[in-house]
Amino acid sequence: MTDFQPALADADLSDNNSRAVTLNGQKVLICRAGGALYAVENRCTHQEAELEGGRIRGCFISCPLHGVRFDLRDGTSMGQLTREALPTYEVRVVDGMIEVAVNN
Ligand code: FES
Repeated sequence: MTDFQPALADADLSDNNSRAVTLNGQKVLICRAGGALYAVENRCTHQEAELEGGRIRGCFISCPLHGVRFDLRDGTSMGQLTREALPTYEVRVVDGMIEVAVNN
């Protein structure tokens, strides 16, 4: 079962930026890229670095540690270091709050 959980105020996340939150014990990274919102697991599938603060370009985020790029839309990884996709979450805005669907 997944359930939308309030994560942070929509106004608190600027474009091409990311914020880490913990929801139901899951480490989630909320990103705004090109004006759109995305939510992914905040753990690189290469060596588990946190992705918060990774450079965002277009709809891609780069891992701060070794630079693997992930497509924020579906978590697909680029390059040779890892072929494992990032888990992604549904995200929406309700009454000015960003909400993310996480497992209960
Ligand atoms: S830990 Fe992210 S690219 Fe190596």
